[in-house]
Formats: sequence, structure tokens, C-alpha cells
Amino acid sequence: MPAIRQIKIAPSILAADFANFGAECRAIEAQGADFVHVDVMDGHFVPNLTFGPAMCAALRPHIKGVMDVHLMIAPVDPFIEAYAKAGADIITAHVEAGPHIHRTLQAIANTGKVAGVALNPGTSAEAVADLLDMVGLVCVMTVNPGFGGQSFLSGQLSKIARLREMIGDRPIHLQVDGGVTVTTAPLAVRAGADVLVAGSAVFSGGSVADPARYGENIRALRTAAGAA
Ligand code: DX5
Ligand code: ZN
Repeated sequence: MPAIRQIKIAPSILAADFANFGAECRAIEAQGADFVHVDVMDGHFVPNLTFGPAMCAALRPHIKGVMDVHLMIAPVDPFIEAYAKAGADIITAHVEAGPHIHRTLQAIANTGKVAGVALNPGTSAEAVADLLDMVGLVCVMTVNPGFGGQSFLSGQLSKIARLREMIGDRPIHLQVDGGVTVTTAPLAVRAGADVLVAGSAVFSGGSVADPARYGENIRALRTAAGAA
């Protein structure tokens, strides 16, 4: 019987109204979000561009809880300090972003923030085996990073299970990111995930003018995850 973990829902503001980010962050937290997931893209590591540190700093006063910054950028190291100063609580870098992920994770830890490491779908769990003592979060990408609204790659479930086994008793969140819906959330949780990133599944049908829908979407994900 797998241990019962408290599931955290982390809405990705990539699916929010880009003209209204402050209000969107307040709305999802008021509606039950645990983390606010901020997808940083550089048009180089991934084929899309999103937020810089100035945007994160501007969002910070609108987020009471955890600001979870997912860096899909290369290189990472020159920007760590800026995202730390912008108020990120968790800073996640990709294992594929450069030859020195160990140094990157050290640099994140030196800022006093929680270091996370993310794996693309083509990267095996073993790539992070020697990094687990340095991180507070492992993020398994269940889509190829760059865009919201893609379909969950169920071939990644065995990787989630493998990582849960590798993590053992360490206090490390196992996050799943991409294509999380009420259908796929229980699969990810059953495999061992405890943090569910969800963009489309949280924001669809709602708006800052109608935030109750965000709450319904978040509760639906929680209920589906709880049934795992
Ligand atoms: C993909 C991002 C994800 C994604 C989630 O590159 O890291 O956070 O936007 O969006 P959905 O839930 O729509 O797949
Ligand atoms: Zn993400």
C-alpha cells in the first residue's frame, strides 16, 4: 500500500489571463491553490518565451503562499540570484539545461531557496540519482516543455514510480507537470506524485470575474487525486 501523502495543487499561470496576473494569483489562492507555478521560458531551451525576474517580483506581493518558479532556460546560473531576489520560494532548473546541474543546484541552495530539479520526458530517472540529497523537489515533465494544453505522456508514469522509490524517506516533493487533468491526476498520484501542476485544468471556464470555477476545478483535481 503506498503511503498517503497530502496532495498539493499548483496552478500554472501560463494558462491565466496575461493582462491580469496579480488578480489571477490572488484568485487561485483564494480558491484553494497550494503553490503558484510560474513557467519561465527563454525561447532557447524551449520554443516559447514568458516571464523574466521583473515579472516574478511584480507577482510576489499578490502571492501569500509558495511561489514555485520553473526555469525552462539555459544557461540557468546567471539568473538564479535574480529569481531569488524576485521572491521565488522554490527554484527548479532542468537537468538538461547545462553540463553542471550540480553547481546550479548548489547555487540555488546558496540563495536560501528550495532547489528543484526537472526532467524532460526523454531523460531517465537515473539522471538525478546523485542530486537527490541537494533538492526539495523533483519535477517530472509529462509533456515536452514549452506550451500549456498538451496531452499527458503516460509513458512517464513508470519514471514517477521509479523516482518515488529512489526518493525513499527523503523530504522531497515529487511534482508532475504537463497535461494534468481529472483523468491523469490519479494516475500520477498512484505512481507517487504529490504536487500536481495544472494550467488548463485549473483555469478553463473561469476568470477573475468568475473565480468560483477555479475553485471547482481545483477541488475536482483534489478529489480525483484522492481517489487514487
Ligand atoms: C509546460 C509547463 C507546464 C504547463 C502546464 O512547459 O511547464 O507548467 O504549462 O500546463 P497544462 O496543465 O495546460 O499542461
Ligand atoms: Zn511548469
